[in-house]
Amino acid sequence: MNKNKNWIDQRFPLTKVWNEHLAEYYTPRNFNFWYFFGSLALLVLVLQLVTGIFLTMHYKPDTATAFASVEYIMRDVNWGWLIRYMHSTGASAFFIVIYLHMYRGLLYGSYKAPRELIWILGMVIYIALMAEAFMGYVLPWGQMSYWGAQVIISLFGSIPFIGPDLLIWILGDYAVGDPALNRFFSLHVIALPLILVVLVFLHIVALHTVGSNNPDGVEIKENKDEGGIPKDGIPFHPYYTVKDIVGVVVFLMLFSAVLFYAPALNGYFLEAANFVEANPLKTPEHIAPLWYLTPFYTILRAIPPILGSQFPGVLAMFAALLILVVLPWLDRSKVKSIRYRSWPYKVALGVFVLSFVFLGWLGMKPVISPEWYVSLAGSIGMEIETALYLILARFFSFCYFGFFVFMPWFTSIGQTKQVPSRLTE
Ligand code: HEM
Repeated sequence: MNKNKNWIDQRFPLTKVWNEHLAEYYTPRNFNFWYFFGSLALLVLVLQLVTGIFLTMHYKPDTATAFASVEYIMRDVNWGWLIRYMHSTGASAFFIVIYLHMYRGLLYGSYKAPRELIWILGMVIYIALMAEAFMGYVLPWGQMSYWGAQVIISLFGSIPFIGPDLLIWILGDYAVGDPALNRFFSLHVIALPLILVVLVFLHIVALHTVGSNNPDGVEIKENKDEGGIPKDGIPFHPYYTVKDIVGVVVFLMLFSAVLFYAPALNGYFLEAANFVEANPLKTPEHIAPLWYLTPFYTILRAIPPILGSQFPGVLAMFAALLILVVLPWLDRSKVKSIRYRSWPYKVALGVFVLSFVFLGWLGMKPVISPEWYVSLAGSIGMEIETALYLILARFFSFCYFGFFVFMPWFTSIGQTKQVPSRLTE
């Protein structure tokens, strides 16, 4: 064994990489539940890549055969149903894991110096992941694939001056059709997965350059022993490789429960309309993207068109995403972790999370108000059918943007607690 290892080490830095990034990579000893989601995101990424490869073996990117090829996978290909449902459930699982991973960043101020670049790379991953999921949803060529693509792609047409030409360039045609399906397939299967893998690699390189943050927000590198080893650090391997297995097991239990008992999860993971083949002559009653894109969809719909143009809404939607990138520079607090922050930040974070959840919920609702609201409005002489959800959408969009706009202010007021010099647990 040793001889073989030496043979490799003389030609490739195997032992060096193993030690630097695992066996002698020192991580804070107080990682909690929230620190499972990075390794879980890696697991889901691999799951999506592997199931995606097998789906591609049987899928046909052609508007005439795409829907039937997915049905063929579900009914005739051995274990095809399992592979397909693993991939569709995996897409939603990916976003659940990523949202919790990002929330951890907000809880413990992991985006603050010196980890800004980890956060920025994370944001690029998040945006690429949204594009990847959107294009993947078009591939089965169901009703929602077609009409979802129609709605989202037509947004590019609202950009002043270049919009109409850009739209034709993206679609390769005047409407969503074969050229669009073909290029979405190519981007979904080759380009974006490749970009994602490279980005994740860079994300982890950046992380290993500065080291992990932790629930106390204390820099463990500032307290080293005579040997140069952080006093509050433990080697990543075997401590966290073993601990992460706990997260993996619990995750796989929940994942399997959905996969085997409710793969469509009542329309949240796969919409009913997508079990019907795309029909350009029949618009579904209610077009909505899957849950992970709906917060941004609501912001888009909350902004009224100006002179018939959707462009202001489109701008607001992209602004909602891009504003997250500059988060490290909006936060003026001296402390990182929520444990030592002042109360204004805690309140603001709570309001932000609630608004994000409500924006997501509103994006799944039709524009029409519920019955009780319409009759209530009618009884006091109002006849505005669309008012309720629109008012709520605007209110929560305001809260969403407010979190970022007022952040420099609310992170610099209030009394923070004294941060200890060593980890507390
Ligand atoms: C495919 C997607 C992603 C993968 C595979 C991934 C992977 C990882 C891993 C393995 C870690 C170290 C373990 C941990 O701290 O949990 C980590 C840390 C981190 N990630 Fe990600 N990540 C992804 C997406 C994101 C996104 C979307 C963001 C935010 C926009 C983000 C922000 C961070 C930050 C700030 C850290 C450092 C956390 C700390 O030290 O407290 N990541 N990531």
